[in-house]
Amino acid sequence: MTILAIETSCDETGIALLKAEGGLKNPRFEVLKSLVASQIKIHRPFGGVVPNLAKREHIKNLPILYRKLFEERNNGKGKKKKENIDLITVTVGPGLEPALWTGITFAENLARELNKGKKKKIPLIGANHLEGHLYSFLLPSRSTRAYASILRLPSSGSKIFPAIALIVSGGHTTLLRMKSFSEWSRFGETRDDAAGEAFDKVARLLELPYPGGPEIEKIAAKGNPFAIAFPRPMLDQRNYDFSFSGLKTAVLYLIRDMKQEARNKEAADIAASFQQAAIDVLVGKTKRAAEESAAESIILCGGVAANKRLRKAMEFMAGKVGAAFFVPDFRWNLDNAAMIGAAGYMAYLRKKKYPLKADGGMEI
Ligand code: KG4
Ligand code: ZN
Repeated sequence: MTILAIETSCDETGIALLKAEGGLKNPRFEVLKSLVASQIKIHRPFGGVVPNLAKREHIKNLPILYRKLFEERNNGKGKKKKENIDLITVTVGPGLEPALWTGITFAENLARELNKGKKKKIPLIGANHLEGHLYSFLLPSRSTRAYASILRLPSSGSKIFPAIALIVSGGHTTLLRMKSFSEWSRFGETRDDAAGEAFDKVARLLELPYPGGPEIEKIAAKGNPFAIAFPRPMLDQRNYDFSFSGLKTAVLYLIRDMKQEARNKEAADIAASFQQAAIDVLVGKTKRAAEESAAESIILCGGVAANKRLRKAMEFMAGKVGAAFFVPDFRWNLDNAAMIGAAGYMAYLRKKKYPLKADGGMEI
């Protein structure tokens, strides 16, 4: 099945073309092309994403990316597209509704155009952005740990289910218990800020540019992760929920009472210690969930999963509890349309019919 996928939930405009096969039990993907137009520079002066600016940029970028998708596939000759598209899918939530609508409208117009005069219509279906993150580890990876390569080598004996999945992004910190690729229950969630949001807010306190996650990671590499004993919120509570606003406030109080000079000098230690506290909580809660569910594997995904220290800590923990560890290739961590293609394929097979309406608060 050849899938055209569109993503506009936040500040990245994404379009991708991929091939999918294998069905619900053994899904495999080949990404023919995935393009992302990042709006980071546009939102940076505002310290965060401005919904109406995002909308304007998506409207501008979508036709450009769509043209580029096929032009580049035809060696830049701009010839007519050859691909037979079997499915069009677009993110309908969660995210910023003005931004989501741009993708939905574009997809609807495109479907209408491609289906003109056709007897067999190409279906257009909605996709859940969080399911995109969840399935992103199935996308091809350059690393030898690629899930796809494990699947092609059944002799490796790697089992996946039951699995514990942790989705950590700018808007979500969610734990799922998965029975299969299509059945799961959500049992842990942040009660206030998402992990990525905490990284972004702490970065702002340290006067680092938006988005803060990669900036914190960069300066944390030069700091001591155990220099400051920040709280590990809810780590010892026997539930699976998270809370990051207290951790952010602890950083705020520390910085507020510091002179500018000391702040500059200790920024790396503050960033490293904050990052360590966040990682300890994420890994600690996931560990308990994996042990109690006798998980065969742990899946880590979402923008914050791009953090190398978190990946390493999670992988180490998975090894200790005897679970396989799956994480998407770096290029699939941040928002992109290839993962939406994967989510669209699975939703299509699961007969999930998400309405083609922006749903900012959509859940997984
Ligand atoms: O998944 P994503 O691209 O967008 C949402 O769906 O929210 O995640 C973006 C979030 C931002 O909060 C960003 O600061 C964070 O992921 N992030 C990171 C890193 N790279 C991105 N957080 C920690 N370390 C990173 N290397
Ligand atoms: Zn995302």
